[in-house]
Amino acid sequence: VSSLSPAQLICMEFPPAAERFCEIVVEAGLLSRLGECLRGYLSAKTRLLLVTDACVAKLYLDSALESLVATGFEVYPYVVPGGEGSKSLAQAQGVYEAAIQAGLGRQDAMLALGGGVVGDLTGFCASTYHRGIPVIQIPTTLLAQVDSAIGGKTAVNAGEIKNGVGTFHQPRAVLVDPQVLMSLSERERAAGMGEVLKYGLIERSCLGAGTAESLQSLNSSPENSLWELLKCRIDAQGLTVATDPELLRRCAALKASVVCRDEFETLGLRYFLNLGHTFGHAYESLSQYDFLHGEAVAIGLLKAVQLAVRLGQAHASLETDLRRMLTHLGLSPSLSQAQHYAPELLLAKMRQDKKNHHGRIRLILPTAITGFVETRDDIDDDLLLEILAYKESA
Ligand SMILES: NC(=O)c1ccc[n+]([C@@H]2O[C@H](COP(=O)([O-])OP(=O)(O)OC[C@H]3O[C@@H](n4cnc5c(N)ncnc54)[C@H](O)[C@@H]3O)[C@@H](O)[C@H]2O)c1
Repeated sequence: VSSLSPAQLICMEFPPAAERFCEIVVEAGLLSRLGECLRGYLSAKTRLLLVTDACVAKLYLDSALESLVATGFEVYPYVVPGGEGSKSLAQAQGVYEAAIQAGLGRQDAMLALGGGVVGDLTGFCASTYHRGIPVIQIPTTLLAQVDSAIGGKTAVNAGEIKNGVGTFHQPRAVLVDPQVLMSLSERERAAGMGEVLKYGLIERSCLGAGTAESLQSLNSSPENSLWELLKCRIDAQGLTVATDPELLRRCAALKASVVCRDEFETLGLRYFLNLGHTFGHAYESLSQYDFLHGEAVAIGLLKAVQLAVRLGQAHASLETDLRRMLTHLGLSPSLSQAQHYAPELLLAKMRQDKKNHHGRIRLILPTAITGFVETRDDIDDDLLLEILAYKESA
């Protein structure tokens, strides 16, 4: 870690004192030297419970174990089945039992090697086992690398209630190897790009007082904005941009910057990260999770932009640009599928969103300056129904 340049390292410090911190490292090939990298955060005497899912285990568990053992760590793997079903109290019980069997004490740690499911489950278990032990996130999906592994939100589902039981528990470090995204399916990569596009649309609202200077300088002019970069790169290269370390680092830095300043979502800043999510959750839930989370977010982004354009607070070109990028990323089938859902049912789902305020649907919407967003809870149902009823022209 000490050999990394400042550009590869994103440091998060949490107030009031900088006694809690988290580092995010983005480096191609990092997984093959995982042990060495971990030594920057944990002593070699630390016992590790490495949690992963069956699919990721097949691809990366052997090399991760080899590197950890070679560096002197005592490591115990625990493999859960792939998929959302593993974010359950029953699987958490399995993790606790594996930790007890491995003899993990308070000074030991858990590693989450996988996507958001493994990350949320392991983070939850680490935050509750012995009232909290360190966790290191090693995200392997695009969604986890730019979003879910960063920020300390952990959860398992409680029956039907998504993320029904959860905690805030900051990881000691988030270790990102963009190369592992090469084995991810195109569908998962495209879905992850939904979250990447979200960062392009909220970037300027995420920056501000207290933001690291390096991040500010990256964004000193509109031409350098993430949105402009995404437009150029996606138009030219389509989905291949999904594995670009620069993009990953930039999105991770934005999330880190927001979370450091509003860790527990009390100031409204962290809420900006929900752009597209209130619409998106309605599609995700009505489809009974047929849509991947990132696909639903992509649909939600388009709805939020359409609403902002309809309200006259964003330029029509924003909608055109977004739709073109979604097409280049291979997300048009999701947009077509979205129009089969009844607007009234979608609106009813949006009313159940847990972020709503005093019964009003709370939305994040783009503004006239791309990259700036605002919170609105004054949109009429009729207008929302009109937006939800929009059809994509063939
Ligand atoms: N904590 C947060 O802040 C936060 C934010 C957003 C989403 N989430 C949660 O994240 C979860 C979704 O995460 P996800 O989209 O990463 O899904 P996931 O963890 O289920 O991974 C998707 C699929 O990809 C496979 N996979 C993972 N890495 C791979 C790789 N490198 N190569 C090939 N296959 C690979 C997995 O086995 C799985 O089948 C949801 O439960 C959601 O609630 C949490």
